[in-house]
Amino acid sequence: MAALSTPAELAPVLEAGGVELSRLMHRTESRLAEVAEGHGANLAGHAAGTLAAGGKRLRPLLVFLCAAQGPPTLPAAVAVELLHMATLVHDDVLDRAELRRGRPTVFSEGGREAATATGDLLFSRAFAELTATGSADAVRVLSMASEGLVRGELMQRADAWSADVTPERYLERCRLKTATLFEAACRMGALLGGEPAAAEALGRFGERIGLAFQLLDDVLDVSGPPERTGKPRGADLVDGTVTLPLIIARTRDPELAELDLRQAAIGPARAAAVCDHIATSGALGEVRAEAFHQVAEAKAALTGLELPDSRRRALNLVADGVVERHA
Ligand code: FPP
Ligand code: MG
Repeated sequence: MAALSTPAELAPVLEAGGVELSRLMHRTESRLAEVAEGHGANLAGHAAGTLAAGGKRLRPLLVFLCAAQGPPTLPAAVAVELLHMATLVHDDVLDRAELRRGRPTVFSEGGREAATATGDLLFSRAFAELTATGSADAVRVLSMASEGLVRGELMQRADAWSADVTPERYLERCRLKTATLFEAACRMGALLGGEPAAAEALGRFGERIGLAFQLLDDVLDVSGPPERTGKPRGADLVDGTVTLPLIIARTRDPELAELDLRQAAIGPARAAAVCDHIATSGALGEVRAEAFHQVAEAKAALTGLELPDSRRRALNLVADGVVERHA
């Protein structure tokens, strides 16, 4: 049986979900490995490496937890993780990132061409996998999420090194680039797992925890430490991604407010010092508070639904886990 990649923090979720959830997560892992290795030696190394680098497998977990019956949702769980992996491989090309999850990225190991091709492969296999569900709705949901991801990424490029990004614009970008895929995972679970009437509320739950997830990701980029996050502190600053911690800190700290972001002057050597400034301003606490607020909204989206206690408990634990993490 393939080893599970879910981190220890998510053990209570697996416990709450019972034997069936663990079985489905194992089957997801095996299928991901098959797909990654099954498309020629050239790409297999990079795709399997991307898979082996781990990941929390939060999106497959959400597909299963939003479904009354697990097995029909298996291809959707695999598909959503493949799509997520594709976006990370492509994101590392755009960010010229050297490290992800503590390992060299496909971009740094194989170069731009190999990383673009690996991302394309993973992206196409996601939709191929989804055909096994026989559901046009599921294809539509994942396709809409892809559109959101692309729009979010383009928005991020347009805003690179800009001093004018408002908190509202930042949140809209996070909704597009991250929350849409969490939402899609939940919607597909509901649609394929026999609870289409719950798709709206579960989709909202996913969207809110997706936002919380990205908010915390942006906190961790500033706080590190790299040994836990698997990437250098201040990577967002270096690649020009203006995030909420920086936006808030600039309103608190005159020195940061004067920093000319357009000059892209913050190199890796200065990034950690700027991160220290951001942390000292108290901005990280405010961003964490916003993440907790989104988690509370996610939980509120579940209140009108009739769910078995074990699934409600597991979903609430995922929501908490999104903000109570260090990597
Ligand atoms: C990681 O976020 C990146 C994303 C959430 C989305 C990336 C989207 C694309 C590259 C465009 C769409 C691509 C496809 C294949 C549909 P981050 O950069 O904030 O996090 P990081 O610090 O982990 O890089
Ligand atoms: Mg990135």
